[in-house]
Amino acid sequence: MKKILITGGAGFIGSHVVRLFVNKYADAHIYNLDALTYAGNLENLRDIEGKSNYTFVKGDITDAAFINELFQKEQFDGVIHLAAESHVDRSISDPMAFVVTNVIGTVNLLNAARTIWKCNKDSEFPAGKKFYHVSTDEVYGSLGEEGFFLETTPYEPQSPYSASKASSDHFVRAYYNTYNLPVVLTNCSNNYGANQFPEKLIPLFINNIRNNKSLPVYGDGKYTRDWLWVEDHARAIDVVYHTGVLGETYNIGGFNEWQNINLIKLLIKIVDQKLGRAEGESEKLITYVKDRPGHDQRYAIDATKIKNELGWEPSVTFEQGLDKTIDWYLANGEWLNSVTSGDYQKYYANQYAH
Ligand SMILES: NC(=O)c1ccc[n+]([C@@H]2O[C@H](COP(=O)([O-])OP(=O)(O)OC[C@H]3O[C@@H](n4cnc5c(N)ncnc54)[C@H](O)[C@@H]3O)[C@@H](O)[C@H]2O)c1
Repeated sequence: MKKILITGGAGFIGSHVVRLFVNKYADAHIYNLDALTYAGNLENLRDIEGKSNYTFVKGDITDAAFINELFQKEQFDGVIHLAAESHVDRSISDPMAFVVTNVIGTVNLLNAARTIWKCNKDSEFPAGKKFYHVSTDEVYGSLGEEGFFLETTPYEPQSPYSASKASSDHFVRAYYNTYNLPVVLTNCSNNYGANQFPEKLIPLFINNIRNNKSLPVYGDGKYTRDWLWVEDHARAIDVVYHTGVLGETYNIGGFNEWQNINLIKLLIKIVDQKLGRAEGESEKLITYVKDRPGHDQRYAIDATKIKNELGWEPSVTFEQGLDKTIDWYLANGEWLNSVTSGDYQKYYANQYAH
């Protein structure tokens, strides 16, 4: 039985990837390694926790001795690496946490994989092994009004978060070039969907509209992002893990650009409608707040390569994905209340106080 390690599997995207792999690949054993930081929540995986091909391991990727021991013991055939500190605002207040987890944590995993797969420049790539690094489009920096990020776009990270992800991407490619480690990478646009921690835009705004709380909009609201439904990202990760060419990078996106303010008005429209409120009632909650430093104006992904070479494309329209997502948050008020209690309240007050 193949053993696949998924890191960060209790987080937002990771939980969707773990569920997909556990349910789809009965002939593989899926290990979910997660430190359960504020962003990790085993509630996300209640439906699969009893499956015989699934094991949860609580552990920290920054602990090299622990990681080496785990790899020696389990002899994984593949790694899908998602564990990270992932929130830009937090990276501005505490950059070192991002260096430690995103850079050192990634290098610990690369070292452990290289050791058990006995990789070095003089040997062939080890058969049937793969190290898949999940990254972000934010490494490319910011676009003006026109153009798209291609896999060949030079890196120009602007925030400590994107700088730490860019650094980890470079290490992954360096291990491919230096040690023949069998790697593949993807850089994906903004995800939305069920189980996302409500510090990120879409769940934050659904939660605040639901609770009649103000909707903090950075700057003039004209920042533009490309949005992809998280289950489509999980499908893309499945395709790239199984058919992606070693050493290659694939951009993943939703072909779906939105200015923040227009997205927020759309969310208000749908949530108000679902809650039986008058049309646009919650627009009064929109509050413009001081901009975040180093804020990238526009991200837009060209996902033609993965579409043409691996046959992946999004399965739902934005309207369909958003509808499912809003229904999920409105039906899971308890999940929202539980993850936003305690420390999160202090963080929130501090972040948006001004
Ligand atoms: N969310 C997005 O829109 C998006 C887009 C593109 C790429 N990505 C990338 O996808 C990955 C997952 O993103 P997400 O939004 O699901 O993040 P998330 O913050 O929801 O989840 C991260 C998970 O990693 C775990 N983790 C953090 N530090 C750890 C450590 N030291 N050891 C072990 N586990 C640790 C957390 O407990 C959590 O479960 C990240 O690498 C991120 O950079 C995210």
